[in-house]
Amino acid sequence: MANKDPLMITDKDEMRKWSRSMRAQGKTIGLVPTMGYLHEGHLSLIQESHKQTHLTVVSIYINPGQFSPTEDLSTYPSDLLGDIQKLKSVPGGVDVVFNPKNLYDYGNNDNGCGVGLDQEGGKVVSCVETGGMGHETWVRVERLEKDLCGKSRPVFFRGVATIVTKLFNIVEPDVAVFGKKDYQQWRIIKRMVRDLDFGIKVIGTELARDDDGLAKSSRNARLSPDDRQKQRMVKMIAKS
Ligand code: PAF
Repeated sequence: MANKDPLMITDKDEMRKWSRSMRAQGKTIGLVPTMGYLHEGHLSLIQESHKQTHLTVVSIYINPGQFSPTEDLSTYPSDLLGDIQKLKSVPGGVDVVFNPKNLYDYGNNDNGCGVGLDQEGGKVVSCVETGGMGHETWVRVERLEKDLCGKSRPVFFRGVATIVTKLFNIVEPDVAVFGKKDYQQWRIIKRMVRDLDFGIKVIGTELARDDDGLAKSSRNARLSPDDRQKQRMVKMIAKS
């Protein structure tokens, strides 16, 4: 049976106000940060949040700050209405969907950091290159961000650490839940929370797999059957 519609919040001040009023009533809050296009892996994070806290906020925000200009920001899959239906189907539902339009918009002008059009080609660019609307503060977990995925994606982890910090400051959760599928990301967030003294418990959940063994991921939506087969082969070789 579907649960009630979650409260939709797009404004960061409204989000913070909601959290503070709930906490004033003695409620604890779990945050599940996502970039949307939800799958069962995300839904299991929500179930973990339910075990830990009274209320659960799911953020849906495709963070331009973690994509370099050569990455897939403009084609990253999204389906907000489909996501809301999925959230309603999770046992216990969710309390709030925080779906801000642009978390790098400080209201100064129209051409800045965020999913924006570049001056020349009119294509979607990430704020890493455009400079942005006065955004110049980045959170870096210096040693852990360097290896593994950090080698081929030099801006990715600073973008993740920065947006997760922003989400923590806006939602002010007691608990935040991440998938260990993105293991380096999970370790970086744990270290950041420790090093910067966030009063937030970070939980990591084990990864969920599709029937053919591929780890569930929003980007899987774009894989052809051939690509799926290749991904599985890479995994088999890595295991042997
Ligand atoms: O894992 C993700 O979906 C993203 O990296 C996160 C943590 C939501 C930050 O944008």
